[in-house]
Amino acid sequence: GGVTAKDALGNDIIVSKFLADHKSGDRTLAQGLKGDPTYVVVQEDQTLANYGINAVCTHLGCVVPWNANENKFMCPCHGSQYDNTGKVVRGPAPQSLALAHATVTEDDKLSLT
Ligand code: FES
Repeated sequence: GGVTAKDALGNDIIVSKFLADHKSGDRTLAQGLKGDPTYVVVQEDQTLANYGINAVCTHLGCVVPWNANENKFMCPCHGSQYDNTGKVVRGPAPQSLALAHATVTEDDKLSLT
């Protein structure tokens, strides 16, 4: 079973509204499985990516901000960098950001598992 993702205010994310409110390429923090911070990805064609990106740095666990100008996730703690899909491109992070499965429920909510 999955969980329904929540926005920053703890409300369910309604996918059609979310896509209307966000630009292609956006990476937006939501709360995924167990409340872990997870980025929801709007693809270039304005559809929802079928994956979410866990925001917890694989080095020592800082939440990694998205830097749209650099098109990377850049950890402020020790400088690790990840590309726009969460793949590690600079250490000290030992591995890429974890991915979650993003799906849309029958009632148009976002599920991250
Ligand atoms: Fe992110 Fe160390 S916690 S680089």
